[in-house]
Amino acid sequence: MTDDGLCTGGAGLARCREQFPALGMEISGYPVAFLDGPGGTQVPRRVAEAMTSYLHWQNANSHGMFATSRATDEVVERARGRLADLLGAGSPDEIAFGCNSTSLLFHLARMIGRDLEPGDEVLITELDHEANRGPWLALRDGGVVVREARVDTATCQLDMEDLAEKVGPRTRVVAVGAASNAVGTINNVPAVRRLAHHAGALLVVDAVHYVPHVPLDAVVMGCDFLVCSAYKFFGPHLGVLYGRREAFERLRCHKVEPQLDSIPHRIETGTPNFEGIAGAAAAVEFIAGLGTGGTACASERAAVLAGMRAVEAYERGLAKRLHEGLTAIPGVRLYGPPPGEPRTPTISFVVKGMTAGDVAEELGDAGIFVWDGDFYATTLIKKLGLAGRGGLVRIGLAPYTTREEIERTIEAVARVAQ
Ligand SMILES: Cc1ncc(COP(=O)(O)O)c(C=O)c1O
Repeated sequence: MTDDGLCTGGAGLARCREQFPALGMEISGYPVAFLDGPGGTQVPRRVAEAMTSYLHWQNANSHGMFATSRATDEVVERARGRLADLLGAGSPDEIAFGCNSTSLLFHLARMIGRDLEPGDEVLITELDHEANRGPWLALRDGGVVVREARVDTATCQLDMEDLAEKVGPRTRVVAVGAASNAVGTINNVPAVRRLAHHAGALLVVDAVHYVPHVPLDAVVMGCDFLVCSAYKFFGPHLGVLYGRREAFERLRCHKVEPQLDSIPHRIETGTPNFEGIAGAAAAVEFIAGLGTGGTACASERAAVLAGMRAVEAYERGLAKRLHEGLTAIPGVRLYGPPPGEPRTPTISFVVKGMTAGDVAEELGDAGIFVWDGDFYATTLIKKLGLAGRGGLVRIGLAPYTTREEIERTIEAVARVAQ
């Protein structure tokens, strides 16, 4: 283990960065700092190579009686195993693949909705990305009542009292984010689970922003369904669904007649993105390497957990410095949970007198790539009164982020804010 805590091959951060060709990019003479991770991370060589290798040597449709088709089946099965390791699923057949998390949530809501009656309730939150709101709001067409747990705009945390009051005898689903992609809040999912399960409701968790930053155990979390997106953790553009076996087996899926009815196939309509699936497995293997450097571990799950723990610890240190540095700049206002509260290394702010877009553009011109806007968390941004003002500037960290990049970013924001 190196002093930065990252262990890829024993050389830590430098070895980690070497694996990402994009990190060598320059813009107008500036090395690029990719702080846009919550919108999608960079991709290490092994992920791109796994996808190329699939397309060159294994490319076929699944379930055929010849070598490349069998190889494809193996690629998919192996990937389910790797994703089960990452998410802490009980078994690989609780892992399904789809286009992206938004499409998977629309699918899921429509299928759960088949068993709901007018007057049944779904609880969503004001903090969530629209991907975990829109699919449930659409059920209003069938008479389902959709309630919304309030966000506390001072801290960008869920108002848990309000959430508890809104879970009632007709609640059938509670849909909540594990972490906010806009401001980094980590929600108290165990408390939400207790409320949901006490009411006999399903718990659906959007873990898209959580999975890249925090070790996850879906079984311990106790969710019924969970989604994440491989492109947020070094993989290709692919959505992943975890379904707890009993809940998944009860789901009445819309499927074409010849499609397998067993889990997870029942939700995977059409031909999957095999090359993306191969890449997602390689992304999990990359994470495992960050913790163990390839040395033997008790299990693949243990290796992935070691990787995620290393990522979490490394990013936490950088985020603390970034938070302190930005807080000290006059004219900069940070949004999100106060220091000490659970959060991801995603830090959002506004600069007095400037739109978020103008700030992001100036940083971008200096080789510092950050996002601006509402990040599809439109309800939160409206509640914060920022909708007409261009939303927030968002800085996201990754295990390839350096201390030097953080210092450069603090200096650049101070310059922009002058
Ligand atoms: C928290 C969160 N949920 C859902 C999504 C949507 O994911 P996808 O692009 O895979 O549909 C995103 C994407 O940014 C996100 O950050």
